[in-house]
Amino acid sequence: MFDSVLSKGSIGSVEIRNRFVMPAMGSGHSTLDGNIGEETLCYYEARAKGGFGLIISEYCAIDPHGLGALNELRIYDDQYIPGFVKLVERVHKHGAKIFLQLHHGGQWSDPKISDYPCVSASPLVWHIRDQLVHELTTQEVYDMIGRFCDAAVRAKKAGADGVELHGGHGYLIPQFMSARINKRTDEFGGDICARSLFPRLIIRGIKERCGQDFAVCMRISGDETVPGGMKINEMCAMLKLIEKEGLDAVNVSCGLPSAYKDTGRSIGGFRAPLGFNANLAERVKRSVHMAVIAVGRLHDPALCDAVIEDGQADFVALGRGSLADPEFPNKTAEGRTDEICPCTGCFSKCLTGPDENGVSPGASCAFNPFTGHEFEKVITPAEKARTIVVAGAGVGGLEAAWIMAKRGHKVIVLEKEDRAGGQTYIASIPPCRQRFAVAIKHYVATCRRYGVDIRYNTEATAESILKLNPEAVIVATGAAPVMPEYENDGIAVVQAVDVILGKVVPGHNCLIIGGGIVGLATADFIIPNMRQATIVEALPDVGEDPFTKTQYSDLLADPHVKVMTDTRVIKLTTDGAVCETPDGIMTLSGYDMVIVAGGFSPVNTLADELEGKVPEIHVIGDARKVRRIADAVEEAAWLAVDI
Ligand SMILES: Cc1cc2nc3c(=O)[nH]c(=O)nc-3n(C[C@H](O)[C@H](O)[C@H](O)COP(=O)(O)O)c2cc1C
Repeated sequence: MFDSVLSKGSIGSVEIRNRFVMPAMGSGHSTLDGNIGEETLCYYEARAKGGFGLIISEYCAIDPHGLGALNELRIYDDQYIPGFVKLVERVHKHGAKIFLQLHHGGQWSDPKISDYPCVSASPLVWHIRDQLVHELTTQEVYDMIGRFCDAAVRAKKAGADGVELHGGHGYLIPQFMSARINKRTDEFGGDICARSLFPRLIIRGIKERCGQDFAVCMRISGDETVPGGMKINEMCAMLKLIEKEGLDAVNVSCGLPSAYKDTGRSIGGFRAPLGFNANLAERVKRSVHMAVIAVGRLHDPALCDAVIEDGQADFVALGRGSLADPEFPNKTAEGRTDEICPCTGCFSKCLTGPDENGVSPGASCAFNPFTGHEFEKVITPAEKARTIVVAGAGVGGLEAAWIMAKRGHKVIVLEKEDRAGGQTYIASIPPCRQRFAVAIKHYVATCRRYGVDIRYNTEATAESILKLNPEAVIVATGAAPVMPEYENDGIAVVQAVDVILGKVVPGHNCLIIGGGIVGLATADFIIPNMRQATIVEALPDVGEDPFTKTQYSDLLADPHVKVMTDTRVIKLTTDGAVCETPDGIMTLSGYDMVIVAGGFSPVNTLADELEGKVPEIHVIGDARKVRRIADAVEEAAWLAVDI
């Protein structure tokens, strides 16, 4: 199985053990002065050990004025070489190869960090930071080419197998390539040949100074996805020219930077289909002879294999897939695919982004809290193996269960339903959210691997727990939806979770109370079935956070969905509701059902009932406090590594 993706490949003269690539991801794990510490080393080492053939480092600044975040890695000075030497050694130790990604943010640099105006191919207003951009003079462009080459020389000195030029996502290199930005009239502006001169001279310079054998890859956006941006045909023409300079590989991404909470297309969220970029890689592959890397939700082993087997690309890069599971390649090779922790595209912990001070808290994963914490959170054998009962097979309970079992404890999970997952199962049902079900499957398979005894159709009561004589109990009984008490003249009122679970047939024109993720997902669930919905939200905005809202932008633009923010329901009528709005009291009518998506409250009576009857009780997840899945999973993990 999966012979194509597991077969050896090569980029230039670099031989790679399989076709799995970890692409560049600004991890935010370096120190604030851009140095590589143990946290960063352990993070990369885990992915090399987990079987990735090629690791491409996160972006490394080639110029102090091109930094996008304070804890971006830096390669603009020789003082940074020793850190990279350690990084290369850690990765090589496990048989993986490593390229360092060379980056200059150009227009997207952060002038607050560098205390220097942003630079670009042409003078534009930097809209987000309200700044004018300095247009590089022709001489400054040649100097910049020199800085990219100097950085490549440092990468080579550090022992890296190659470099990747960050020529995608709208940073400095594509600011030269894209007619959207480049308005120059010197040799670096004009037609395709001239706009590609900047990367061509960088590659020529690197090959001259580092040798033809030193691999050079370039990341591109095959489609910049904005009006006037580069499209794939123009990009392919450019790549044909660039390849003549000796480029060894092209890594085909798409879109522009994940600017300020808008993830755009470069990092597709849960509504982007699996493999959404692979067709761009395939188009590039028809135009060039060098190795082509595909990327973009290639998070399923069968999909990875098909992309290689069908010749769409030579390598597959798994970004968030590698954050969710550093062992993705090894588990694929060992036929343990059901144990792969999937990326759900939820953005809860990976895309943390720099805050207003330019600092990122560090990339992790909702379903794999160990990501980014490999250094401090290590699963070690328990000092004394104990019998531990977990009440509830939600993802928090199961996260705790497999870790404790791996540590040697005897773990029994009691679950009143006939399946695992709890609220996460409900979250998996609306459109585009099936990956949450994959996450549940991964938990069940991982629990099975470590011998957890999951007992379905078994309610965790004080009595059923005490019968098992546990030495510790973990209460992970989750939360239940809240039903607000409205005065109601007669309209049908149901819970969103009951609609999603298929227990209730939704009305044809529904009033959804609550515009958080549950409200939006419920609207998304009912609209395709010839329904209409009005979402009423008391807060000034829907979607809970900007990432989630961005994911649902198509839903929010759907004519069958209306949204009313700053609107509070006062009472329900026979066909709608009386609401308080910024414009005064308003009656909404013409509805045949009210769907409440108004939050959850903890379910936890067990802790009190068991108090004094078992040696140790821990209440975790929503049973303790309702919050995001990611936070519940993390809490469970940190308890389990210590108990
Ligand atoms: C936290 C995070 C940081 C990223 N930083 C970079 C980066 O430094 N350089 C880059 O070329 N792409 C970066 N990307 C984009 C990824 O390399 C990749 O193209 C994208 O995540 C899509 O792949 P995926 O669907 O497998 O996650 C980043 C993505 C994430 C999630």
